[in-house]
Amino acid sequence: MSYYQDDKNTALLISVQIFFISSAEISYIPTHKSFRYEAKVSVGFRREMSYLCAFYAFLSSFCFALVMIQLAVNIDHIATLREARGGIEPDPVAAAAIAELSGAVGIVCHLREDRRHVNDRDVRLLRETVKTKLDLEMAATPEIIGIAIDTLPDLVTFVPERREELTTEGGLDVAKNLHHYTEVVAKMHQNEIAVSFFIEPAKEQINAASTAGAEIIELHTGTYANARNTKEQLDELKRLREASEYAASLGLKVTAGHGLNYVNVQQICTIPELEEISIGHAIIARAAFIGLEAAVRDMVRLLEVYSR
Ligand code: PXP
Repeated sequence: MSYYQDDKNTALLISVQIFFISSAEISYIPTHKSFRYEAKVSVGFRREMSYLCAFYAFLSSFCFALVMIQLAVNIDHIATLREARGGIEPDPVAAAAIAELSGAVGIVCHLREDRRHVNDRDVRLLRETVKTKLDLEMAATPEIIGIAIDTLPDLVTFVPERREELTTEGGLDVAKNLHHYTEVVAKMHQNEIAVSFFIEPAKEQINAASTAGAEIIELHTGTYANARNTKEQLDELKRLREASEYAASLGLKVTAGHGLNYVNVQQICTIPELEEISIGHAIIARAAFIGLEAAVRDMVRLLEVYSR
């Protein structure tokens, strides 16, 4: 995807600049020996340091370009808090701006059919104000599809939706409704909206998402996050790893989300094909104590540290 490609190019550019700047600075390092000795040492030293810088530049470009998992922040819970009083605050639009300023590369919101948190006004204003990318989570129903086409988010993520659930439960069954989803994806693409499917880490669903024409899949990490013991968690991590590898081999961009927090995200970061994660609850919960900016920055820093 273009966001990721841009990062790779930027990383390479920065690395080349580091190399030249470091080499230039080394040539100005003063020594305290005689002129001849100084010249000899300085040339040798400079050459060695240049090799070191080249190695560092290569390493940093390689690491940064391949490993940095990015963060999209889901702001539904800010809207949930607002709806608790039926008033106007806190405003998810303001939350989105703070999340972006703190390092999020995308803002995610779920416009549910029952409008229990995010509403039509939020989506309209988010479309106007979000500067990174706006990912609209939605069920593939005629009403919400119409809203997506009117507001033109950068990306839609199709999710299953049941009125009685507390939050999205499980992945979407794309394989079962392949014909419907293929038509919907085409409609989104006609309007230049990218498409992601929120699915279980299963080959059948990955194949269906690819056949339907999506360019992205978001792997459901709920089972991993809710695992009751280490074995269960490691088994699910293996499934997520294998699914990511398979999806990437089909040319899909791989993202993941649901139930990820400041602890369990660390193992997720070891999946090489994973490019982005979407987190809501853990970040907003932490924000209640330390503020949204600090909570987003903490997660971005974690991703930097724990990315491969
Ligand atoms: N991805 C999808 C598709 C979701 O439905 C949700 C929950 O709204 C998330 C990610 C974020 O999950 P959580 O709030 O548990 O971080």
